[in-house]
Amino acid sequence: MAAHLTLRRRSLAKARQLLRGALESDHMNHKVAFSFADGKTLFFPVGANEILLDAALRNGIKIPLDCREGVCGTCQGRCESGHFTQDYVDEEALSSLDLQHRKMLSCQTRVQSDAAFYFDFDSSLCNAPGPVQIRSTVSAVQQVSASTAILHLELETPLDFLPGQYARLSIPGTDSWRSYSFANRPGNQLQFLIRLLPDGVMSNYIRERCQVGDELLLEAPLGAFYLRHVTQPLVLVAGGTGLSALLGMLDELAANACQQPVHLYYGVRGAADLCEATRIKAYAEKIPGFRYTEVLSDPPPDWPGKRGYLTEHFDLAELRDQSADMYVCGPPPMVESIKQWLLDQALDDVQLYYEKFTESNI
Ligand code: FES
Repeated sequence: MAAHLTLRRRSLAKARQLLRGALESDHMNHKVAFSFADGKTLFFPVGANEILLDAALRNGIKIPLDCREGVCGTCQGRCESGHFTQDYVDEEALSSLDLQHRKMLSCQTRVQSDAAFYFDFDSSLCNAPGPVQIRSTVSAVQQVSASTAILHLELETPLDFLPGQYARLSIPGTDSWRSYSFANRPGNQLQFLIRLLPDGVMSNYIRERCQVGDELLLEAPLGAFYLRHVTQPLVLVAGGTGLSALLGMLDELAANACQQPVHLYYGVRGAADLCEATRIKAYAEKIPGFRYTEVLSDPPPDWPGKRGYLTEHFDLAELRDQSADMYVCGPPPMVESIKQWLLDQALDDVQLYYEKFTESNI
């Protein structure tokens, strides 16, 4: 009887699918990102009425599958941003709670906008191609604080990535590579905030040899730290050049005129380390609920602003009143202290996403 019911549900779903196919135009493409547990992300086009799994297979991404009927659940993932529908989902494959959490079956999903999906296994399981290496040209380099520079790179063709992700950059004249978060939205003009160390391979290149027109190889996109579908207030927390990833997210939020409140916390050691003040203030013009708090851990005695650790200045009432998504990017001790603070305050409704970066000393 159960098998008979499943078949009936499937035939109904098939009829709905055919009807939808007849009604919808299928010539419009959407751009879709698949990201995996190993931090790799792949982009590919999907037709407006195309099954996501078919588009993935056509692009060489072999998502594990079995029934292709929405029953076994093998091809499941989670939609992180964008709009989609599903033709048929058997309750054995995904529960109503799974559906509330935007889980989906690739073999039943059709996208209705650009979208990003996450799969909780490594990309190698799908024989997926790795991140690409691309040539770029230095278009500008500016020192924007005592300890920070912004490197601007230009590409011949636009690069796809998710705001918050990072790239590995080759350092000209060496065989070294270093990782930096994108500080702007996807396109063919890229920006990266670079921490200037007293003696580091990239720092020395930026200070001593970097010229407009230099060629750099970059490998991207990388990383599982990226902006998800925005459905609730956002708290963005940057330590030092962790600001880079959050600037990329803020550019995206500003471009989409985000209607959710966004509170950026930015912590650095001294006043001379603060950067991009004008750019940060300008977000308030495009994001109606934008707030900004900067904190110095080692300020001069006459510093009139906030001092100490970032957690001492989090708006606890704001976080207690409403659920929120918190994105944290900074050095490991800062990230760990924020995780502990959330536990201590029992803020169970805060969904935490974080990226720890360690600075190479050479
Ligand atoms: Fe079985 Fe998609 S392959 S649900």
